[in-house]
Amino acid sequence: MKKGKSNNYKKRIIPFLLSFILLWIIIGIYLLNHQTVEDKLKKKGYPSNEILEIKNILTEKDFNVLLNYSYHEKIIHIIKEEEFLSKNLKKYLDFFFQYKTADTYDIVFLINHGKENITYTPDIYDILHSKNFKEENLDRYLSYYEEYESAGSRVVIAVNHNLDEEDIGVDDTIFLFMEKEYALTRNLNRYKSYYQEHKDLEIDEVIARVNSNLDKTFYQDVNPTDLGKENLLIVNKFYYVEDDYVPDNLVTISSIYGRGEIKEEAYNAFIKMYNDAKKENLHLFIASPYRSYKRQNELYTNYSNKDGVQNADTYSARPGYSEHQTGLAMDLGTTSNQNIGDFEKSKEFKWTKENAHKYGFILRYPKGKEYITGYIYEPWHYRYVGLEAANYIYEHNITYEEYYEYFVK
Ligand code: DAL
Ligand code: ZN
Repeated sequence: MKKGKSNNYKKRIIPFLLSFILLWIIIGIYLLNHQTVEDKLKKKGYPSNEILEIKNILTEKDFNVLLNYSYHEKIIHIIKEEEFLSKNLKKYLDFFFQYKTADTYDIVFLINHGKENITYTPDIYDILHSKNFKEENLDRYLSYYEEYESAGSRVVIAVNHNLDEEDIGVDDTIFLFMEKEYALTRNLNRYKSYYQEHKDLEIDEVIARVNSNLDKTFYQDVNPTDLGKENLLIVNKFYYVEDDYVPDNLVTISSIYGRGEIKEEAYNAFIKMYNDAKKENLHLFIASPYRSYKRQNELYTNYSNKDGVQNADTYSARPGYSEHQTGLAMDLGTTSNQNIGDFEKSKEFKWTKENAHKYGFILRYPKGKEYITGYIYEPWHYRYVGLEAANYIYEHNITYEEYYEYFVK
């Protein structure tokens, strides 16, 4: 009988307990489902202020992704990256938890470019943060790095210079040159051989010299100049114009400004320069502008008969190799003293030297650069190249040889 009573009691209490537990489960589920995202993130350890910020960026789906990962402050940085794409959230987070030291910008950038399988190393960081990094070269940087395992900054240089595509042999010595400002891929092998023979020179100097063709001999290895470069064409001891070349747009110079003929663009620029100089009581005079091939031939023949070829070559161009035949050059004097040999001593020279670039002219054969230009210092000889080139050459104190090979050719 006793047993029957206790069974009865159990029969009543068990369902009661079960329904009690069920009720709490239901309440639990209800509460969980009705927990706000904020509550859930707070539980994960997200600070309230950060929750507020990311709430504006993420969608509800994103929050469900986010809640599968533990909190780390860098996750907030990832979400706040400018290039952040909600659809990539899971990939960002997986990548982050694999490479916790990775830069958050890099994570977003790499994933957005489909590089979730990359091994993130300090070199990859260097590649992505190199000042010469170009987004369009990303794939080539990565495959170059995979192949050569070079330092990151070198990878960028090598690829930017197309060393990955050219069969020139990738060894450490090339970076000596390629890391420098004016290095040209097409001249790399020439830098190497020139440096072999001139180990005492600074690398920048090797580059300047080879870019100016000084590894070759003047008047040997010459080419017709590219007339298509117009005002930026070059004429020197490596580039010539044909004997029958006469520039178009030659205009006759008014006797106010000088004598002879000059190209119109150069003339207009000169008139502006002349007028501004005049406001300062300075009086420029064009003593020798365009010279025909025939005229240059007469001059050079006389000089070389008088002084010998070697001497004449230091101050006079051979016919076909004079800038004067392009109509873009002019020798200056002053109205009161038209002798170009005296120009350096004049106030006009002092002014022109510091101002000519503002009108598109450069001092073509500067002091100290004789070995590059192949001519003695000529304070009187100005060349029209246009404003952009003239300003750059003036600011950077380089010769037209260097400028042309690097920027124009
Ligand atoms: N004096 C310059 C170099 C020329 O003859 O063109
Ligand atoms: Zn001249």
